Amino acid sequence: MKRKIVICMGSSCFARGNEENLRVIEDFLKSNNLQADVLLSGRCCAGLCAEGPNLIIDETTYSHVSKEALIDILNREFLANK
Ligand code: FES
Repeated sequence: MKRKIVICMGSSCFARGNEENLRVIEDFLKSNNLQADVLLSGRCCAGLCAEGPNLIIDETTYSHVSKEALIDILNREFLANK
């Protein structure tokens, strides 16, 4: 089954870091040849702006996702078991 990343593209999360986080995710998937295995999509504000920037990987919601934290999360979620 395909893994899923859903990134909040609401204006608050976007301004707080998800604009850059989206690029980081796209680069990560490309450089690790994961584009075919991971479905990346955006969503509108879910009302959790104070916790943002937010994103969801499969069933797990990650909040306050800085670029540095995101790289750790992606490595853990997608490379740790390889
Ligand atoms: S903009 Fe992301 S939760 Fe509101």
